[in-house]
Amino acid sequence: MTSYSRITGTGSYLPPRRVTNDDLAKQLAERGIETSDQWIIERTGIRARHFVDDGVNSSDLALEASRKALESAGRVADDVDLIIVATSTPDMVFPSSAAILQHKLGVAGCPAFDVQAVCSGFVYALTVADAMIRTGTARCALVVGAEVFSRILDFNDRTTCVLFGDGAGAVILEASDEPGILASDLHADGKHVGILCVPGHVSGGEVLGKPLLHMDGQAVFKLAVRVLEEAARTTLAKAGRTEADIDWLIPHQANIRIMEGTAKKLKMSLDKLIVTVHEHGNTSAASIPLALDEAVRSGKVKKGDTVMLEGVGGGFTWGAVLLDL
Ligand code: ACO
Repeated sequence: MTSYSRITGTGSYLPPRRVTNDDLAKQLAERGIETSDQWIIERTGIRARHFVDDGVNSSDLALEASRKALESAGRVADDVDLIIVATSTPDMVFPSSAAILQHKLGVAGCPAFDVQAVCSGFVYALTVADAMIRTGTARCALVVGAEVFSRILDFNDRTTCVLFGDGAGAVILEASDEPGILASDLHADGKHVGILCVPGHVSGGEVLGKPLLHMDGQAVFKLAVRVLEEAARTTLAKAGRTEADIDWLIPHQANIRIMEGTAKKLKMSLDKLIVTVHEHGNTSAASIPLALDEAVRSGKVKKGDTVMLEGVGGGFTWGAVLLDL
């Protein structure tokens, strides 16, 4: 039986419409809401984000990212025997965006399902795919994070609408005799549901509640820095490694201050931190695979490097995956 799983290809996709902080400030000003490029950069590190146009869904972004990941792994869609999409902004209530993606890829038959763990979704999905490969249930998994958060933003709430963006990232995870994924660590604590949620649902043909993102930013901030450090340390211990073994830290791209705070707590040089939040905003489940793909394609992260991926988000959920690329 195969002992490990290993990432053999990465891909990502951003919708073409780039919205700068100034663009957003102008749009909000028309609603009588004040914000500025300076405020957003100072508090978050974000300079711009990408938004989809009408009619474009998570599965469309996932399709583009998946094609690139397949190409970089030297695989075709027919080789894939498992599809997992991490998303909190699926195309429909059901079926899953993974099933829709499978059809758009022109294949059928392999299992396909979504994972919903908000911004921790990708580390959850990668951990599930790793477990399925290690038990022999799958040999070539397509694992995607895809989001259209622009659809669930309240553009009357300046404390949240400036933070998020749309995009998708994907990896091909294959059975391997060599690691690969070294260890992972996942958690959730539902008592924090109210600090980050979209408190709406469909009932009797109507949307009840408020189907827009609500967040207590300061509560999320404090919790995120604490749990990201804990998850990293637990994952390192499980793998029998130390902070010094990490070549690259790729945390969920929510806020540069949270990311730098985590790197400092792990006593890591900020040079080892992969940062894309300035150009992507927070793309939730897509942020880690987007950052990983950009770092690989830019030549920064190379085969053989040890990489720590860390997710944190609504639920509250959090987790980490340590891997050799
Ligand atoms: N433009 C201008 N002013 C603003 C804006 C804005 N866009 N947003 C808030 N302000 C104002 C506030 O009204 C407040 O004004 P006041 O002092 O007159 O009351 C002031 O700025 C400071 O507001 P704070 O909320 O204290 O600002 P803070 O420094 O905490 O930064 C932020 C807010 C950026 C949201 C921060 O708390 C944060 O990043 N939190 C974590 C968010 C996060 O990571 N979320 C994603 C989690 S992942 C997921 O699952 C989706």
